[in-house]
Amino acid sequence: MLAKSYPYYLANQPQTSKEMMDVLDKYSGKVATRVAVPDAKAVEKAIAAAVKATVPMREFKPWARQAVLAHCVQRFKERREELAYALCVEAGKPIKDSDGEVTRLIETFFIAADEAVRINGETINLDLAKRLDGYHGYTKRVPLGPVSFITPFNFPLNLVAHKVAPAIAAGCPFVLKPAERTPIGALIIGEVLAETDLPKGAFSVLNLDGKHAGPLVEDPRFKLLSFTGSQIGWDLKARAGHKKVTLELGGNAACIIDADQGPHLDHVIDRLVFGAFYQSGQSCISVQRIYAHESLYEELKKRLVAAVKKLKAGDPKKKDTFLGPMIDEAAAERLHGWIEEARKAGGKVLCGGKRNGAMLEATLMENVPTSAKAHRQEAFGPFALLSPFRTFDEVVDMVNDSDYGLQAGIFTDSLSNAMRAWNELDQGGVIVNDIPSFRVDNMPYGGVKLSGIGREGVRWAIEDMTELRLMVMRER
Ligand code: SIN
Repeated sequence: MLAKSYPYYLANQPQTSKEMMDVLDKYSGKVATRVAVPDAKAVEKAIAAAVKATVPMREFKPWARQAVLAHCVQRFKERREELAYALCVEAGKPIKDSDGEVTRLIETFFIAADEAVRINGETINLDLAKRLDGYHGYTKRVPLGPVSFITPFNFPLNLVAHKVAPAIAAGCPFVLKPAERTPIGALIIGEVLAETDLPKGAFSVLNLDGKHAGPLVEDPRFKLLSFTGSQIGWDLKARAGHKKVTLELGGNAACIIDADQGPHLDHVIDRLVFGAFYQSGQSCISVQRIYAHESLYEELKKRLVAAVKKLKAGDPKKKDTFLGPMIDEAAAERLHGWIEEARKAGGKVLCGGKRNGAMLEATLMENVPTSAKAHRQEAFGPFALLSPFRTFDEVVDMVNDSDYGLQAGIFTDSLSNAMRAWNELDQGGVIVNDIPSFRVDNMPYGGVKLSGIGREGVRWAIEDMTELRLMVMRER
């Protein structure tokens, strides 16, 4: 179902090139397909075309932007199987999760189609004093202009959608660099956008490696850089000059299991297994730190370990596979090293812990010192650690003892503990009675501390890609 090769997109048009980049099947390690690679001249042309498209995109009416987004929704529905298969091959994402991501891709474009015709302003009351009689204030939002996007490998469709769909809704031309290891999803999105009547230059999708993506970060003609990925985002921000920067940089998400959860343990365990291990834990909001009240710690541990041992690992193309490979062997080796380091520092492996190439077993540990990398840094793999807590004050401190703050989860029947979690956890979002990995694509999403700055989620991304323009009118 994959094409033999894929073009890149320059100013809405497919382009071939002499230089080609291999895309590997992440499970077999074999070349699955190849993609065309733009040269430096093409990068410059893409930026110039985006600049030229600034006014045409601004004047491209909201209903026309909505029609483009609705076309995408329709075409993604028609190409659903192909999209899921491509994702499964290029990311090694189990086919069930791949199919789920296609659903989210469609929803993200659907939400953006709705939002495109709802970008409103305000009437500002200027009647502060007699001297201001007859003055009226109004605001509207105007598109920023050309924007640049760099997206990660873990959601090659939906994290591209979270930048591309709001840009179209907002009226911003864009240049996108998808992750080198997983460019196919973005290229199929490009192919679908090329079927629309977006103004020429409205979009380019460039398969660049990190070394050649400098202009997307540094070029002052871009008014915003939106980056999702690793901590490297902070370096990009330092190089970005005066443009706005939005960063979504992951975390080591915590989940609290409160003392009153005994009757709900089956449900809690189901959700923890999913949150920690779906798509091999390669999500910025994967459950990494589980804090269970001491009164139910042993019972939760026993049942959680039993559930994790049942997970079926193997070929992501098979419908019953839960755990596929990590993105590459180096990633699995890195996390395996952290597990070994934590073990040597006194941590106990409760299940898993072994690696075969890019396949790392679903691993649970306890007694991991807070100084260990597996505790402090982002595991970004099939790994979670368990710790008991005694009091709610203590667990708030434990969750907050992190350099990250994207989302946290808490299972509790206590309204006051839910409110305390919302008030006291230093996070972009707190999910009550579910895992931190919960995300619906119309909610604000982003973090504090090293997890990033700014918020995505279609409405908030549109806000980011537009700015307020005020008009004051005086009656005569
Ligand atoms: C991420 O890894 O940041 C995205 C998580 C999601 O969209 O579910």
